[in-house]
Amino acid sequence: MSTDLLEPQVVELDNLNEHREIVTFMRRSSPLNTSQRTALEQYGHLILEYPVGDLRQHFEHPERPLTVEIGFGMGRSLVLMAKANPERNFVGIEVHVPGIAQCVYEAGMAGLTNLRLLDADAIQVLREMPDNSINAVQLYFPDPWQKKRHFKRRFVSHDRMPLVEQKLEMGGTFHAATDWEPYAEWMLDVLDNRPNLENMAGKGNSYPRPDWRPQTKFERRGLEEGHKINDFLFKKIK
Ligand SMILES: C[S@@+](CC[C@H](N)C(=O)[O-])C[C@H]1O[C@@H](n2cnc3c(N)ncnc32)[C@H](O)[C@@H]1O
Repeated sequence: MSTDLLEPQVVELDNLNEHREIVTFMRRSSPLNTSQRTALEQYGHLILEYPVGDLRQHFEHPERPLTVEIGFGMGRSLVLMAKANPERNFVGIEVHVPGIAQCVYEAGMAGLTNLRLLDADAIQVLREMPDNSINAVQLYFPDPWQKKRHFKRRFVSHDRMPLVEQKLEMGGTFHAATDWEPYAEWMLDVLDNRPNLENMAGKGNSYPRPDWRPQTKFERRGLEEGHKINDFLFKKIK
């Protein structure tokens, strides 16, 4: 495990471009609680060191289908999914250190062997993956970047989706969910116009909320504020 995670976090108010390109996140600093700090030490083997190369090689069964979750937040839903699907491998990528620590705590307590976590920009990690190597990419309640001047940071975009498509296996899926209606419309417009992807709900439609996607923290918040939840499930067809 990288000891960097135990150091006080410096807020890099990302200046809109961490590694000289526009990033989709803003690093936030907040202290770790005791169980999170302990978990980083005790279950540090669940955290991969960046650069990681082919994520599949870090599992006991690298041949199993791989799910990559981008921006898992506090990670409760990712842990539940990994628990419910022992026949798959899961990698969660996040830049929010307390979230990584909380998720590692819950994964460690649950004794999961099919989940690994990573403190990195998911874009950089995807670039290192071989093409056609990921079975599912999930992006739940990504930062909506509501101001027009920030739209370029939205993960779902014609700039970033080619990388996701390249790394997905044929027939693999991209699953996104959002509670922010304008971002839902934006997502649908981008995704329905990607020639390599097929909308599993039919063009122009959101996907019925799947019961295999556990509720996330940001989803709960959105619901409390009366927001509608939209899921989108797309399959790589070319
Ligand atoms: C709004 S939060 C949602 C968290 C969680 N999925 C949920 O629904 O509760 C979005 C998260 O995505 C993370 N994120 C955004 N872009 C990322 C990237 N390129 N790589 C890794 N994490 C990213 C942010 O740090 C943030 O914690």
